[in-house]
Amino acid sequence: MTLRPSYPYPIGETGSPEAAALTGQPLALTGATMVVPTLEEAEEAIGPELRPGQGNVLSVKALSVDLLERSDRLTVVREASLEIGPREIVGLIGESGGGKSVFWRSLFGLLRGANWRVAGEAFLMGKPLNFTDEEASRKSRGREVGIVPQDPMGSFDPVRTIWNHFLETAQAHVDIPAQEIRAMAEDSLAKLYVDNPGRILDSYPFQCSGGTLQRAMVAISAMLGPALLIADEPTTSVDVTVRLEVLSLLKSLRERIGTSLLLISHDLKAVMSVADELNVMYGGYIVERIKTGDLVAGKAQHPYAKKLIKARPRFSRERLESIPGAPPSLRERQGERCPFLPRCDQSRPSCSDYAMEAFRVGQGHFVRCLLAKGEA
Ligand SMILES: Nc1ncnc2c1ncn2[C@@H]1O[C@H](COP(=O)(O)OP(=O)(O)OP(=O)(O)O)[C@@H](O)[C@H]1O
Ligand code: SF4
Ligand SMILES: [Mg+2]
Repeated sequence: MTLRPSYPYPIGETGSPEAAALTGQPLALTGATMVVPTLEEAEEAIGPELRPGQGNVLSVKALSVDLLERSDRLTVVREASLEIGPREIVGLIGESGGGKSVFWRSLFGLLRGANWRVAGEAFLMGKPLNFTDEEASRKSRGREVGIVPQDPMGSFDPVRTIWNHFLETAQAHVDIPAQEIRAMAEDSLAKLYVDNPGRILDSYPFQCSGGTLQRAMVAISAMLGPALLIADEPTTSVDVTVRLEVLSLLKSLRERIGTSLLLISHDLKAVMSVADELNVMYGGYIVERIKTGDLVAGKAQHPYAKKLIKARPRFSRERLESIPGAPPSLRERQGERCPFLPRCDQSRPSCSDYAMEAFRVGQGHFVRCLLAKGEA
């Protein structure tokens, strides 16, 4: 029997048709039958702008986010560009307050509690994102984009079973029978190495360990086979032993459902262990974009990125370097001068006039620092 997929496609060993179409990978398996979407089906799922095997899952161009406070207009994120290819794991790192969360939340209509203005362009699987259309943003979340919450324990309602959480998430996005959602939920849990998924689904959160809840939360985010998962500080509220497990689970999803991942953290060591590329954010700017291999090889150029590397904990006798001073507050960093200037030990007089343009210093390697000008 050949099973034709109806949306949402079952999460197969190798991923949803969107992910498969983007990556050119083998396609979703349902039972013993391989389901191969036609080009038309793939186009319907991912949009005609993007042919299978081409393009980025997420592409952000010159995104700026302003916060209106009384008569002030404070720029929180400035001209940030970022790209995530199919099955790519991209890290966004930097100290607290740099704008990491505002950056991705602005893309999906998730900025709350203030008066925000978002400018720039962003494309999800080739389709433009409308920053102000809340309904369209809500639809894409959970279906095309899965968001892994920061605090798995706090994300579950204690009086409802784990199954209720899966059901509610799926029903917010797709109109299919609960029985099918149940099968998808069990499948998604099994992919995250949860033994006896049926028993876990019928449990209440207090009956599960922290590790199981974390897996369940990731499984909910991944259930509909999103092309992109966003994990903002997924390891801050878990202890060190669970931390490595969470990171390897997130990494395994690339192979298991063919998803791409945006991993956000202030923990450079954690992000380096799984990401293909890193974007270093400071004072609202992405100040360096670099392949992880180049970072490890000592090719980082921005003084802040170099300091971050020296400040990361390692198993070695080398002394850890701390970064003197503190990141600028939002008000301190207004204006178009280098926000790292007060802390930079490589600054020179001309840095005060530098207008923060980005320089390309290698393949996929960009730096926003005057020192990189000579390299460009
Ligand atoms: N709702 C809000 N109202 C006012 N200011 C805000 C709001 N959300 C964020 N900000 C400000 O925007 C700036 C960037 O915040 P953001 O949360 O993006 O930083 P971050 O890099 O994610 O930091 P962290 O590592 O602590 O999560 C900060 O100065 C923060 O105080
Ligand atoms: S532009 Fe100047 S102050 Fe800013 S990071 Fe580069 S060297 Fe330091
Ligand atoms: Mg944050």
